[in-house]
Order: sequence, then C-alpha cells, then structure tokens
Amino acid sequence: MAPTEIPESPETPKQSRRDFLSLSARAGVAMSMLGLSGPAQRPLVYPEREDPPPPHPLRILILGGTSFLGPQQIAYAMNRGHSITTFTRGRTKPTVHEKLFNEIEQLIGDREDNLEALRGRTWDAVIDNSGHRAKWTRDSAQLLRDTVDLYLYTSSTGVYYPYLGEDIREDTELVLEVPEGITEYESMEYGYGVMKTHSEIETKRAFGEDRSIIVRPTYMMGPADRTDRFPYWPVRLSRGGEVMVPGRGHDPVQYIDVRDVAGWMIRLIENRTTGTFNAVGPPSKTGMHGFVYGAHAAFNSAVSFVRIPDYDFLKEHDVTVVVPWIMPVGNDAGSARVNFERALAHGLTHRPLAESMRDIYEWWHSDAITEERRVNMVSGEKSLMAREASIIAAWKARK
Ligand SMILES: NC(=O)c1ccc[n+]([C@@H]2O[C@H](COP(=O)([O-])OP(=O)(O)OC[C@H]3O[C@@H](n4cnc5c(N)ncnc54)[C@H](OP(=O)(O)O)[C@@H]3O)[C@@H](O)[C@H]2O)c1
Repeated sequence: MAPTEIPESPETPKQSRRDFLSLSARAGVAMSMLGLSGPAQRPLVYPEREDPPPPHPLRILILGGTSFLGPQQIAYAMNRGHSITTFTRGRTKPTVHEKLFNEIEQLIGDREDNLEALRGRTWDAVIDNSGHRAKWTRDSAQLLRDTVDLYLYTSSTGVYYPYLGEDIREDTELVLEVPEGITEYESMEYGYGVMKTHSEIETKRAFGEDRSIIVRPTYMMGPADRTDRFPYWPVRLSRGGEVMVPGRGHDPVQYIDVRDVAGWMIRLIENRTTGTFNAVGPPSKTGMHGFVYGAHAAFNSAVSFVRIPDYDFLKEHDVTVVVPWIMPVGNDAGSARVNFERALAHGLTHRPLAESMRDIYEWWHSDAITEERRVNMVSGEKSLMAREASIIAAWKARK
C-alpha cells in the first residue's frame, strides 16, 4: 500500500494497531478539512500490542515509580508478568494506572539519606528514574551492585548540551563541568546535563559496562506529564481558531511518547541489552509544521494556522521555546538533531502522534487534573495561550 493510500475497509482483522491508528488519524484530518468541530471519537477497537513475550518473569526495582515514566513502566512490566517494587518518599501519587499500585511492593525511604529499605534485598534489575543528583545514583548503585544484576539509569539527551552537532550520537564527548560566566538559562541546561553525565558515570563505575543500561530520552509526552509543555498542543489544537505556529517549517522537532520509552526499557532489561541509547522520536525527520499538522489530525476542530517564521519577532515576544519547538540557534541549534539509529536497531518503537495527542487530551480532561491547572494553561499569568491572540495581531500588523 502506498503511504498516502487509505484502505477500503478499516475493519480488516489483520490490520496492525499502527495502521489502524494512522487511518483514524487521517480520518481526523479529513474531518477537520470538512470543518467539523469537537474532539475526535475514540476508535472502538484497540488491538493489543504484539510484542513478543518475555523470556521469563523478572523482579524489578524502580527507584521512583509514581510520577510520569514510572507508572507506564509498571503497567507494561506487570502486563508481561514481572513483579515490581517501587522506592519513593511516599509523597507523589500516580495520576494514571493507580489501581496497579495495590498489587506492587512500595518501599519508603529517601535517596538523599535513607536507603535502609533496600539493604539486603535482591532483584533482577533496578531502574533509576529518580536520580536528581549524581550522589544519589552513586549511593544506590554501590549499595545494589552485589545483589542486583542490571542497573538501568534514566538519563536524558540533556547530556549533549550545548547541542552543537547536526547528528548527535551516543559517543559524542560530554561536558563534565558547568562553565563559568554563563547566563541563568545556560546554567540550568548545563547543570542538568552535567548531573546526568556524572550519574551515568556512577552507574557504570558500580555495575560495569556489561551490567549497565543507559537510556537518554528526548522530551517525553503522554498522560501523567507533570509539565504543561506537551498538553499545550492538544488543548490548543482542539479549541480551533487561529493557532500560532512559531518557527520555520523545517525547524527540526523531536519528542517521544513516554509509553514507548517505558515499554522499550522493560524489553531492554528482558533481553539483557546493555549499552547507551538515545530514546528519541518521531521515527522520521519532522519539522515544526509537520508536527502541528500531525498533532491536529487527532482532532476535528476548524483551525487556521498562523505561521511565524521570524526569529527576531519571536524573541521580541518572548517565544523561543514552545516544546517540541525550540528555536534552533546557538547552543540549542542541534537539540532536535539527535541520532537514534542504535535504539531503533534494538527495538525502540513509536506509536502514532495522533494517538499520543488524543490520549493526552483525554487525560487532561479527566479528574486526574485539577481545574486550576486547566484554567492556568488557558488564561494563567504565564500562559502562552492567553498571549497568543495579541502576538498574532502584532504579527499581522507588522506584515
Ligand atoms: N520528562 C521528560 O521529558 C524527560 C526527558 C528526559 C529525561 N527525563 C528523566 O526521566 C526521569 C523520569 O522521572 P519521573 O519523575 O517521570 O519518574 P517516576 O519514576 O515516575 O517518578 C519519580 C519518583 O521519584 C520519587 N522521588 C523524588 N525524590 C525522591 C527522593 N529524594 N527519594 C526517593 N524518591 C524520590 C518521587 O516520589 P516521592 O515524591 O513520593 O518521593 C517521584 O514520584 C527523570 O530522571 C528525568 O530526568 C525526563
């Protein structure tokens, strides 16, 4: 089937989930072209993923587990017969898959100064999601090195800051120290990257190359996001009207659904695939316009895109980062030019963008989200959505 062809019967039993969803996404495009409004209907059938079964059940410890990435790892792992232990301070409550938490062991402590609950215990693998300091990773990795087989550290493509390359690969040399005399923004970016780099080093120091898995995700999106970065788009696109699209059409964007990262991490552990991997999407190179059109395919609102490609104008209006778009200049020039061939070769898969958008939209309108958070996005003090109409008006007046 040619890429643009739509099969006659969407109900064909052998149709893959990916085909099915991309079909419904294209149907969404068609509906929006017809000018119909309101959120898209959920398709009636969701075939299960067809990932091959795991070799054998594992006991997995998650340092963290209750925020964004953790619940998705738990859901995927339990669905495949693994048993899960989490380790947190007991403060953060999950906003997805809540019921599963009744079926797992939940240990309480603090990575800063109380790892007692982990002492003397054994697991097949540990996933370190909550590593916010290199010391935390050093302490837990040293404690668990003789009682756990594999250590998966959740790093970030932030280790590549400043993003100066065209094709950033896993073997890129990483910055080890935050330089002097930099701006507040740069200091935040360097600080995060340097912390992640040192945490990776601590992982490998304790577990060795042959028992360490380092996963470096780009911006993750999906239900349970604690930031409002990606939810901005489904909320904005579903509302219709004139939508500001910052940047040039081919400005590169990269992002990945948190569920694709979560499931893949579990499969890396199952298959004992060690090494360092960039966890990045979408599967083919995408520019900002491609992202916005693809995201809108989840909705049938009537929209009119107002493209603003002028970087100077955008800077004047304080629009330099609207994730996944990051103005690709200076130290951010290559932030969305990260190569992920190695991950693809080791089983990373990507669900369709429209599926992610629709699921984020539904989660955003569920009782997992407070009304205050929803209102803030649309009209809060720092809301881009609240400023959008005046930016568009200024853009039109300027032209
Ligand atoms: N979001 C993105 O786009 C993105 C991109 C690249 C990489 N990453 C990385 O992905 C990881 C995912 O994080 P996540 O929050 O989604 O993971 P998570 O496993 O869902 O949750 C992390 C949990 O860690 C616990 N925690 C925090 N401080 C703790 C402490 N001092 N001691 C013990 N537990 C503590 C928190 O629970 P309590 O509050 O109850 O302790 C929190 O629920 C992070 O390492 C992040 O840097 C994220």
